[in-house]
Amino acid sequence: MAITLLSSPLQGFTDFRFRNAFHHYFGGIDTFYAPYIRLNGKLKIKNSYQLDLQPENNTTLEVIPQVMTNDPDEFLFVVKYVQSLGYKELNWNLGCPYPMVTKSGMGSGMICNPTKIDDVLKKAHNESDITVSMKMRMGYEHAGEILDTFPTLDKYPLKNVAIHARIGKQLYKGPVDLESFERCITSTKHKLYYNGDITSVASFKKMEARFPSIDHFMIGRGLIADPFLPSMIKNNTTEYPKNRWEIFSEFHDTIYQQYDEYLSGPTPIKMKMLGFWEFFSQSFSNPQKTYKAIKKAGNPVKYKQAVAAILNNESKL
Ligand SMILES: Cc1cc2nc3c(=O)[nH]c(=O)nc-3n(C[C@H](O)[C@H](O)[C@H](O)COP(=O)(O)O)c2cc1C
Repeated sequence: MAITLLSSPLQGFTDFRFRNAFHHYFGGIDTFYAPYIRLNGKLKIKNSYQLDLQPENNTTLEVIPQVMTNDPDEFLFVVKYVQSLGYKELNWNLGCPYPMVTKSGMGSGMICNPTKIDDVLKKAHNESDITVSMKMRMGYEHAGEILDTFPTLDKYPLKNVAIHARIGKQLYKGPVDLESFERCITSTKHKLYYNGDITSVASFKKMEARFPSIDHFMIGRGLIADPFLPSMIKNNTTEYPKNRWEIFSEFHDTIYQQYDEYLSGPTPIKMKMLGFWEFFSQSFSNPQKTYKAIKKAGNPVKYKQAVAAILNNESKL
């Protein structure tokens, strides 16, 4: 069965700069989800979201915008905004686990509230012709919440429901709950996408074998930690290209340069890249030493020297 790989959004990481460079240097991803738009009570789209979705910044990729809200009017406002940019689909985030979000009844804190979900979907479908897709966890408190929500979701022509196989309360800890995900497959008419802990070709194959009816898989953190992963999955290989570190180095320099132009001053670019290195370092031979070396680099010159030394060392292994 031909599989489709989607890049699962990571706010603060997978913006247009990352997506474009990723696609250029590594490939393997069919569709990219943009990180969520959140309005914070005002019907106004922040500049950083606008920049991320502008068609001229997304010319070579298929990108699907995402919104996080529990308010039908806000949802519709974002629908109109993304449609004005030419997008045909809006993904709805019911997965965010952070207490600030869930306590206000959004993200995974909304899964237990089918009535409110219905209000949003009803308005979106009655008052627009956008295609809606969902990205959600299986609940906040327990994995049965999604089962009570499926009858509501089944009333609408959703394109798909992508499920991160955890509950909100877990945050990102503990294992994915594959039994509960399996139960979801038989409990809804919608097409499900699998998401959660695909970090290697082996872990992808495990999921593929366990869920033979699933042909769409979303990869989030695993794709930043090892950007070669999607293309290796697609090519059914565990072999890296011979010039692995050269490619990585060019990718790194591309995003560094773009973030450096966008962010002002040495501290913001350092923090940005340090965030990436928390993931990148995981696919280096000594993750802790790698991360520490980056963290220690006190200024841009030292940072560049540290990156060069790390990559040089890795190429020799
Ligand atoms: C730092 C961070 C930011 C995230 N931002 C988003 C987001 O904007 N929208 C979303 O749907 N999920 C977001 N997620 C969740 C991921 O997309 C993904 O569902 C989750 O990490 C599980 O998949 P993975 O194990 O492949 O990473 C975020 C996760 C992390 C760690």
